[in-house]
Amino acid sequence: MWLSPHSATDQLGQEGFEVDNRFTSDRFPRSSAYHPEWVLAGVSGGANPLWLAEWLAEAMDLRPGMRVLDLGCGRAMSSIFLHREFGVQVWATDLWFSPSENLQRVRDAGACDGVFPLRADARALPFAADFFDAVVSIDSLIYYGTDDMYLSSLARFVKPGGQIGSAGAGLMQEIGGPLPDHLRSWWTPELWSLHSPEWWRRHWGRTGIVDVVAADALSDGWQLWLDWHRAVAPDNAVEITALEADRGRYLGYVRAVGRRRADMRLEEPIVSIPPQYTRRPLIRGSAVAEPGTPPDPAGI
Ligand SMILES: C[S@@+](CC[C@H](N)C(=O)[O-])C[C@H]1O[C@@H](n2cnc3c(N)ncnc32)[C@H](O)[C@@H]1O
Repeated sequence: MWLSPHSATDQLGQEGFEVDNRFTSDRFPRSSAYHPEWVLAGVSGGANPLWLAEWLAEAMDLRPGMRVLDLGCGRAMSSIFLHREFGVQVWATDLWFSPSENLQRVRDAGACDGVFPLRADARALPFAADFFDAVVSIDSLIYYGTDDMYLSSLARFVKPGGQIGSAGAGLMQEIGGPLPDHLRSWWTPELWSLHSPEWWRRHWGRTGIVDVVAADALSDGWQLWLDWHRAVAPDNAVEITALEADRGRYLGYVRAVGRRRADMRLEEPIVSIPPQYTRRPLIRGSAVAEPGTPPDPAGI
């Protein structure tokens, strides 16, 4: 059962002090152990990263000592969570948020030996091929991962047999026709990167780079999205109104997990082509100019 964030400090604990029930949920027992003030101080997006990380981990096989890339980690709460809960080593990688800030959060969480913050663009990652056992991306892949070329560039960093998982805002069904009226006032052009589980299954599956082992939606995800927004961004009336009107017809949380196939060879990305210029006449019937001759405006 989800307890509304507004029902904070509404029970007395066994010792007689007030229990803060914000962000507790039977659905997410691991996340519920984390202090609500810590969660609120680390907000970096429109979803609770602990809930999404816990849900994603249920569909992945995360074991102690594994090397995990947390791609688009924001304020690194999911990175700390995954390290603490599963004993994995996490490279907490993000573009917008400061790795120095994240290091302070990691230090205070006592996770320095297992969470390594850095700033990097998901489109230019600085890792060695086959380095990671797994990649997780929490409410972030929609910013870059819908590009048809992206999976092959990301999968190179994962060992064959390794896992790539994403959980975040998405659609329960694709919007085939015009935008539904009740979403119009909230919608912006970037939101076309929201997709359904079936979309992700096809997007990844047809590449042959991964076997898609999960692609599904979180039950009542829209309600969790709404509750989170009411707690962290109560002034965002446009999004709250859209979620209330939608009631999970289109909006919710989507998860996808793939395992990198060993039989698919991934090419190194082209980063530079060596210069090799050969002079040739520009116009039919003209001669090649001697090197150093300024170009003839007539092309001869
Ligand atoms: C909605 S926030 C989610 C942050 C965090 N995972 C969470 O759930 O709280 C999206 C994150 O994606 C990251 N992001 C967007 N584009 C990126 C890119 N090209 N490379 C790396 N991270 C990117 C942003 O820096 C941002 O922290």
